[in-house]
Amino acid sequence: MASPDTLPDRAQVDAALARVNDPEIKRPITDLGMVERVDIDDTGKVTAKVLLTVAGCPMKDTINRDVTTEVSKVPGVTGVQVELGVMSGEQRAALQDKLRDGHAQREIPFAQPGSLTKVYAIASGKGGVGKSSVTVNLAVAMAAAGQKVGIVDADIYGHSVPAMLGVADTRPTQVEDLIMPVPTASGVSVISIGMLKPRRDQVVAWRGPMLDRALVQMLADVYWGDLDVLLLDLPPGTGDMAISLGQHLPNAEVIVVTTPQEAAAEVAERAGTMASMMHQRVIGVVENMSYLPCPHCAAEGVEHRLEVFGSGGGPRVAQTLGSRFGYDVPLLGEIPLDTSLREGGDTGKPIVESDPTAPGALVLASIARGLGTRGRGLAGMQLGLSPTSKG
Ligand SMILES: Nc1ncnc2c1ncn2[C@@H]1O[C@H](COP(=O)(O)OP(=O)(O)O)[C@@H](O)[C@H]1O
Ligand SMILES: [Mg+2]
Ligand SMILES: [Zn+2]
Repeated sequence: MASPDTLPDRAQVDAALARVNDPEIKRPITDLGMVERVDIDDTGKVTAKVLLTVAGCPMKDTINRDVTTEVSKVPGVTGVQVELGVMSGEQRAALQDKLRDGHAQREIPFAQPGSLTKVYAIASGKGGVGKSSVTVNLAVAMAAAGQKVGIVDADIYGHSVPAMLGVADTRPTQVEDLIMPVPTASGVSVISIGMLKPRRDQVVAWRGPMLDRALVQMLADVYWGDLDVLLLDLPPGTGDMAISLGQHLPNAEVIVVTTPQEAAAEVAERAGTMASMMHQRVIGVVENMSYLPCPHCAAEGVEHRLEVFGSGGGPRVAQTLGSRFGYDVPLLGEIPLDTSLREGGDTGKPIVESDPTAPGALVLASIARGLGTRGRGLAGMQLGLSPTSKG
């Protein structure tokens, strides 16, 4: 039996609870009004009543586990009982106010002058070139390097990002009008335009004003918290979404993805030019599916690249855009064809994490490192740059 001098200290139990973050909001449950009651009985058993934001919250197992783990570490604790409840409408409204932090509704935090979040829009001329694969792997690599990363999947044709991150069937939790981004195993948070549809299999003909509303919703009505990096997976081409993005986030920097193929490169140049017309800076080109490392030669230790989709697309797009805009548009990397990259996408385990030494993963990780060293900075600094070379 526990004697009184070994009973857990209430302050230490509270401190333990403060180490538990809500998995979606990524802030301590104690700050969010989620801990309703804590009891310590005279045998050292702790009972904590934790209020979930909504009934049937998909994150309840995580919260339960994390509370138990943290409280168990406190000296004198002999057992932990977690009781789960649900916030009342009033409590949810208070939480929403807290998360909005006094800001007006429908404000896009990333477009504010003081925002430190780097925003990268991933664009391509056509579908199927690996835009989503690049987006997801860059995000996961940056998160692995300790950055807080969010993805907005704005591709109305594909919205494949959730599946590539293993959360295809997760619907976001909503606290009043505020939407929680879906957390993933790799630490990246995601919201997809596919999640805004009432049903996953529903076919929506996204057009101009509707598309604009959906984009604003994903940027302003989602609680992103304090992100280091936001990546946007854009629909291919030069359509309405590109225009909306240019209007709402002119400070977004654009990365163009292409394959080596002539036809892909041509449309990629148009997508890049569109971004520039919307006053966004194109910071580089990624060539994907660049070559297949010849397995026969590799077995003999010789590098031999099979140019399955031709060659030259990436360098050509970089060169053309650079001379068109009058500033340097670098080729950020050439990603080989890699079976494990495709498998990683299909199974929801991005290769930079699941198979980090795969040839494709190495290139993706190095591109992410390059972007990472650009660091956090004031958004909008490139805004209105005159077309001169940055040297
Ligand atoms: N470098 C690569 N090697 C092998 N498969 C790839 C590579 N890049 C993309 N893929 C696969 O090609 C398909 C299309 O890629 P995806 O990223 O969905 O393209 P997009 O978003 O441009 O439509 C996916 O099945 C993906 O796994
Ligand atoms: Mg895609
Ligand atoms: Zn060979």
